[in-house]
Amino acid sequence: MKKLSLFTKCLILFVLLWLFLRFFIGSVVSVPLPASVIGMYMGLILLAILVHVSVEDERFREFLRPIKETLADESKKTRRTALFILIPLIMLVFTFTKVATQADPPASLRTAHPAPPDELTYRDQVIGSSQEAKNPFRHLETDEPEAFKVHVENGRRVYYQNCFFCHGDNLDGQGHFAHGFNPPPANFQDPGIIPNFQESFLFWRISKGGPGLPPAGTPWDSAMPIWENFLTADEIWEVILFLSDFTGYQPRTFGEEPH
Ligand code: HEC
Repeated sequence: MKKLSLFTKCLILFVLLWLFLRFFIGSVVSVPLPASVIGMYMGLILLAILVHVSVEDERFREFLRPIKETLADESKKTRRTALFILIPLIMLVFTFTKVATQADPPASLRTAHPAPPDELTYRDQVIGSSQEAKNPFRHLETDEPEAFKVHVENGRRVYYQNCFFCHGDNLDGQGHFAHGFNPPPANFQDPGIIPNFQESFLFWRISKGGPGLPPAGTPWDSAMPIWENFLTADEIWEVILFLSDFTGYQPRTFGEEPH
């Protein structure tokens, strides 16, 4: 077999290192390296190869020889013609795949308000059926307004300690972090939310967060945290009281039309 030229060796090394970065490293750490990082490494590798071949005049001439031959030698005409066709073709395919994959992905179909599970739970404790579970403090609104106010105040504290970063000072979904999220945090001033749902639905969404959404609610990268990991069940019921008190919207009660 003919000895490989220095140029071919360098080319093979370059391609092997690219394959290594692109596929091997990615499978070891199980996340592919970002293209920009690979690009950076490949730039360094190219530089290293060029330094290596150009330190000695003799070696550099040896490196350039196949290039010169290909460009000028009468005997390399076929190779020249092949490259003349191949290079634009490769660039064409490359450009085409880049541009073609740039098209917007189709909007994924998802339900923004999927049905809650039959059973309402806090952590692993069953609270009741999602249809019938009630806010344990709601009856105080008429029975003991003073005690009710205390629970709303607790809810306000819970809200401003935990929720306003995303859902906003005014509960309008315009918190500091809101613009970093897609889907955006819910806007509770929107009449489409609180009046349409029972308190048990809100309890379910708050306690289980984005990760608790059923398949109908996904694929959907909701940043809504799992609040049952941080708040007591009472605190969740209280923050729901605050959401309705602040916005003036009453959550839907069972069997009634939204109002
Ligand atoms: C890290 C940001 C973030 C924080 C903090 C946060 N949320 Fe959310 N929340 C979201 C996002 C994003 C959504 C919209 C996607 C979804 O419904 O899961 C959402 C949705 C909701 C919903 C569902 C509304 C609907 O239309 O179904 C409720 C209820 C809710 N949040 C209440 C709260 C409460 C109460 C707190 C504080 C205890 C809170 N959130 C804290 C990001 C956040």
